[in-house]
Amino acid sequence: MTLVEEFPDVRVRAPAKINVFLAAGPRADDGYHELATAFQAVSLFEDIIASHSDGFSLSITGPIDTSSVPTDDSNLALRAARLLAEHTEYGGGVHIDIRKEVPVAGGMAGGSADAAAALVACDVLWGTGLSMRELQALGSRLGADVPFALMGGTAIGTGRGDVLNPALARGRFEWVIVPNALGLSTPDVYREFDRQDDSPAAPAVPSEVLHALRAGDARMLAEALHNDLQAPALRLRPDLAAVLEYGETNGALAGIVSGSGPTLAFLAENRIEARSLQQSLERAGHEALTVYGPVHGARVV
Ligand code: C5P
Repeated sequence: MTLVEEFPDVRVRAPAKINVFLAAGPRADDGYHELATAFQAVSLFEDIIASHSDGFSLSITGPIDTSSVPTDDSNLALRAARLLAEHTEYGGGVHIDIRKEVPVAGGMAGGSADAAAALVACDVLWGTGLSMRELQALGSRLGADVPFALMGGTAIGTGRGDVLNPALARGRFEWVIVPNALGLSTPDVYREFDRQDDSPAAPAVPSEVLHALRAGDARMLAEALHNDLQAPALRLRPDLAAVLEYGETNGALAGIVSGSGPTLAFLAENRIEARSLQQSLERAGHEALTVYGPVHGARVV
């Protein structure tokens, strides 16, 4: 049996992330900031289907507006597929169909999830059989958040956020996500961060964060939620502050800007509280979704 018959197409699911803690150091010579972050993968997913093709092509569908996502060679999933082909000297191509659920340019690493899913899917489709470590090394060349989308779960990220160590996490944390129609550019948020940066040279994840994750204690984690990119994101998008405050006075234990924003993430005490907060936010005219974490990284479904 040929590979084409054996694997007619491959479906892979990869998760979005929330940074429950993020501290950034000053900008380094390579243009990146040294990070100390705690990632949690949450139950909002990108699904991709990879099928055999002579060339490299892409289509995108999904319940969210994807009109701003490029479908040409600059698309991160296609770049991932090409990088894997080059690295493994695979001679064929792939058609990738993405079903998008993660807000675009939202600070939840949806594009990175696409790249992670594409790496896993093409590796299976083409039978190139790379290890997770090799896929992560390729992933980190595509974007700082790609290795975590491959790993999933809960992890501490250092370096650019791409050097990962799994973190012990018990139980399940319930979140309410508020996407925003207008995306924020990650480089813009980091530039705004640089304007008022008084951060330590060597950022670290405090023990309170690790303790709260290990204990599976939402109240404790709520106390420890922090994001150095929140202040610059709010300076660029002052309208988000009122939504954060609304969530926090309507049942959230705490709210935070997710990554470089503009998506907001509210931590709830339990599932019932999360559902009730979601309904309050919707009544106030905001789109709101309930998700939970941690969930698995990119894998074949
Ligand atoms: O790696 P990724 O493409 O996700 O990063 C997008 C941009 O975000 C980078 O070009 C850089 O401006 C900024 N960034 C940063 N420090 C990091 C991660 C990202 O300055 N650790």
